[in-house]
Amino acid sequence: MITDDTIICRCEDISYKDVVDAIDMGMSTVAEIKRAIRAGMGPCQGRTCGRLIAQIISQKTGKPIAEVWMPSFRPPLKTVPLKVLAGVDDVEVER
Ligand code: FES
Repeated sequence: MITDDTIICRCEDISYKDVVDAIDMGMSTVAEIKRAIRAGMGPCQGRTCGRLIAQIISQKTGKPIAEVWMPSFRPPLKTVPLKVLAGVDDVEVER
């Protein structure tokens, strides 16, 4: 059961009420919600919360999910350690 305090975006600690408040202020797409309250801007880039937010928007506005959610994932698709991007295996840090 979803309550106002239910966390929808765990990366950014965004609750169901935060999402509903954004919808009540006129936002009607996942992209708008993302820009307004940062839901979907965490490390998973909305892979976990994007569909949930789309479902909430769809329920509240009556729009089909396809109209409110257009995923636009950008690389890297997974968290990548900097040493992999730098092309080094072992890095010693001087303190
Ligand atoms: S759960 Fe929302 S960005 Fe990760």
